[in-house]
Amino acid sequence: MSAEAIERGEPSGERDGVGDGGITYVSYGGEHPLPLVMSLVDEELSEPYSIFTYRYFVYLWPQLTFLAFDPKDGKCVGTVVCKMGEHRGAFRGYIAMLVVLKPYRGRGIATELVKRSIQVMMESGCEEVTLEAEVTNKGALALYSRLGFIRAKRLYRYYLNGVDAFRLKLLFPRPDPGLHPMMLGNERDDQHMDSPYL
Ligand SMILES: CC(C)(COP(=O)(O)OP(=O)(O)OC[C@H]1O[C@@H](n2cnc3c(N)ncnc32)[C@H](O)[C@@H]1OP(=O)(O)O)[C@@H](O)C(=O)NCCC(=O)NCCS
Repeated sequence: MSAEAIERGEPSGERDGVGDGGITYVSYGGEHPLPLVMSLVDEELSEPYSIFTYRYFVYLWPQLTFLAFDPKDGKCVGTVVCKMGEHRGAFRGYIAMLVVLKPYRGRGIATELVKRSIQVMMESGCEEVTLEAEVTNKGALALYSRLGFIRAKRLYRYYLNGVDAFRLKLLFPRPDPGLHPMMLGNERDDQHMDSPYL
């Protein structure tokens, strides 16, 4: 799919398309939309991520990054950025960033973005999905709770702003042994093992 088409919010494949509410969802398609992802996340999340962090995620797992566009004006209004890999003998998905612009919130856009990435994780053989959220982030905690995530752990002063995090976890049924997981690297086993900084 061309960069211009991505900017216009046109569907690029079977994972893309128009969701409820007229929003168009597209999977990541190359270098061009990276500034879109970066500006959305920089605007709304407290953690300052470098371009290397963004590249790490979207270049290695482009199929796990989704963008939401308002087709009325082609504006990018939301994004989810994820990865997957081996952890303690299990194949695990990880949601690194999730943002929806304020005027577009409360319309199910974040839910749709997360569901799309989780679907790819499941199809790729993941057994579980994890993420961290600030303990004060009521909106995100409610959203993930509705999607079936449980609070697995509290991480003391996890964020640079000193706020604690909850590690949230979603468990899948055991994967089909016929599926071949796309594994990329091992992860360290400490409380920041999934930090986007690593
Ligand atoms: C969290 C965020 C992504 C939610 O986006 P959204 O598109 O509004 O979420 P949805 O419309 O899919 O919400 C689904 C459910 O989550 C819960 N929820 C979402 N935002 C909420 C809020 N501010 N307060 C309470 N519950 C909320 C609700 O249960 C909601 O369902 P409902 O509208 O039927 O009640 C958005 O507020 C955001 O970008 N926040 C800033 C960045 C951020 O905190 N990201 C998460 C980091 S872990």
